Amino acid sequence: MARDFVIHTPEEIIRIKEAAKRAAIARDKIAEYVRPGVSTKELDMIAGEIIASLGGRCAFLNYHGYPGNICISVNDEVVHGIPSMTRIIKEGDIVSLDVGVEYEGGIGDTARTVYVGQEPPEDIKRLLTATEESLEAGLKAAKVDNSVRSISAAIEAVARKYSVAVVRDFVGHGCGTKLHEPPEVPNYVTLRKGPVLQPGMVLAIEPMFNLGTFKVFVRGDGWTVCTKDGKMSAHFEHMVLITNEQPEVLTRV
Ligand code: MF3
Ligand code: CO
Ligand code: CO
Repeated sequence: MARDFVIHTPEEIIRIKEAAKRAAIARDKIAEYVRPGVSTKELDMIAGEIIASLGGRCAFLNYHGYPGNICISVNDEVVHGIPSMTRIIKEGDIVSLDVGVEYEGGIGDTARTVYVGQEPPEDIKRLLTATEESLEAGLKAAKVDNSVRSISAAIEAVARKYSVAVVRDFVGHGCGTKLHEPPEVPNYVTLRKGPVLQPGMVLAIEPMFNLGTFKVFVRGDGWTVCTKDGKMSAHFEHMVLITNEQPEVLTRV
């Protein structure tokens, strides 16, 4: 049977941490450039420069043919938004920045969603709070001897609390020396318990929550995932190392 999780060596973990740290710095630096009037293509070019200046390589570029440096998903776009010259950010938008960095064989993968403007309206605030809070709950559950399902359950409980919908067609994943490694980390409880968490496992936990339906579709560009009802979607992602002590979040700055 195929191996259903990856335990990374201490040498690999050093590189993964370096990559994850750079991805986190880049994520927050790119977020400073999100303002009305900027195109998502401009943001992507800025992202490319920032990642290169950190000594990293854009891990998403050419991944299964993906054409951008990072993924930029606006409003009803859930994930995998392709940067575009004609997509101009405006006040009131929410913009998800998903950043992947390869550094000396380690991979960092992290995302956050930012509101463009001063104070978000109540529904957007609820969506952003729910998604970010669920990620924190998922990270807290990423303890040795818990199962992947404990993470899923923690995330799903927060979605329920805020009455938002959990995207089911895309999930978190192992991450470390490849962008996507086993196991899958769903943001909802499934029939499978999933592997028991062990030291050396590195997971990318990434809740995607919607204000309306959980249903999504992929646009004709073959990448951009959108909500079926056109309502807003948010996405936050951190990488976490399972240890014998507390889980160690690798993508905090
Ligand atoms: N960053 C995404 C994830 O969190 C994967 C992006 S792959 C790409 O798993 F090809 F779309 F860039
Ligand atoms: Co990501
Ligand atoms: Co990911």
